[in-house]
Amino acid sequence: MQAVEIKKDIYWVGAVDYDHRDFHGYSTSPEGTTYNAYVLKDEKNVLFDTVAGECAKTLLCRLAKVLEPEKIDYIVCNHMELDHQGALQEIVARTKPEKIFVSQTGMKSMAGYYPNTDWPVVPVKSGDKISVGKHTIVFQETRMLHWPDSMVSYIPEEKLLISNDIFGQNIASSARFADEYTQKEDYEHRIKEYYYNIVLPYSPMVLKTLPVVESLDIDMVAPDHGLILRGEEVGRMVQRYRTMAEQKPQRRALIFYDTMWHSTERMAYAVASGLEECQVPTRIMSVKQNHHSAVMTELADCGAVLCGSPTHNNTILPLVSAQLTYMKGLKPLNRIGGAFGSYGWSGESPKYLQEALKAMKMQLPCEPVKCAWRPSKDDLKACHALGVGVAKALIEACNG
Ligand SMILES: Cc1cc2nc3c(=O)[nH]c(=O)nc-3n(C[C@H](O)[C@H](O)[C@H](O)COP(=O)(O)O)c2cc1C
Ligand SMILES: [Fe+2]
Ligand SMILES: [Fe+2]
Repeated sequence: MQAVEIKKDIYWVGAVDYDHRDFHGYSTSPEGTTYNAYVLKDEKNVLFDTVAGECAKTLLCRLAKVLEPEKIDYIVCNHMELDHQGALQEIVARTKPEKIFVSQTGMKSMAGYYPNTDWPVVPVKSGDKISVGKHTIVFQETRMLHWPDSMVSYIPEEKLLISNDIFGQNIASSARFADEYTQKEDYEHRIKEYYYNIVLPYSPMVLKTLPVVESLDIDMVAPDHGLILRGEEVGRMVQRYRTMAEQKPQRRALIFYDTMWHSTERMAYAVASGLEECQVPTRIMSVKQNHHSAVMTELADCGAVLCGSPTHNNTILPLVSAQLTYMKGLKPLNRIGGAFGSYGWSGESPKYLQEALKAMKMQLPCEPVKCAWRPSKDDLKACHALGVGVAKALIEACNG
């Protein structure tokens, strides 16, 4: 087990979990994840973040390759979520640090997760600097990116930004740097997956924070998940974040649906044919076959989202409801929407779907489409027309 020197006297001492699949209980991580932690060797030795609780020993082993854990003087907790601080108790017990730095709001989450401790916790705020010998650490709060306590640590002498959850990706690999990772498409996908399932609601904050990042002299960004960015990859990532945060309309559509007896599924395919006729590439996703986080990731490239559910006990099917709840919480912006579904006797579902999309401030150019029992030719034509109507509104939004 090796530590990896990423800059002179700065080492990666994190943990790679190849088999992790349930990321934080709400997203999948189909290829595992990495909890990054970093150590800076100087007159004061500093550990930046820890790892998930179950990886505490891995961190200690790697750390021991660089220095004896007892020689850690400071721990910086950029964010108190337990994927970074689950190991804190064990690490503090072993290292007995002289100081633990957290943001002002981090004091609350620290007390919430680790009450009744007598740890030497010191709150810091944006612009606070500490000198640890040859190096300086400058703290920058990034409130609500993605927790109130979140902050990043900048080491100007090394042009290094330790960015915590910002710019992360759920990737498990022996590559430490993005430029060493050969699966380029997978990398792009994991960036979108991470952003669309974690960072998206805070897009307005992202747009305010990126200029701060750009104002710093940086040639390396070391996030707490996945690959480290260096050289030109830093600017490319900033640009990706700007694009994902702006959410400008994109000419692509997502249809997600559930079905009991395949009528709503048939409707979904007819809606897709209307979109495709207008040259809007479309992805159909059954919410039974696709995890809600995978559906969300797909939305990253889609300016339109259409949703289908049959009426079930006077309402919509539970997996569609779950998808809509999850999507609403992630606050996507600037989408065009549409709704459809089959029914037997009361037929409430398309109306409820339309209301759910409206609650996400989507533009809804067409009335919801519903059909009794099996869709007839005319019903399928109505679905096709829904696809065309949404496509036209999307094309106008893309051109406008
Ligand atoms: C358990 C169950 C409950 C249903 N509840 C309703 C209902 O409350 N109102 C309604 O209009 N149709 C109801 N239906 C009828 C379905 O909406 C209808 O069969 C529809 O065509 C199913 O579409 P699907 O093939 O996409 O599943 C129900 C069907 C089932 C199996
Ligand atoms: Fe987090
Ligand atoms: Fe995290």
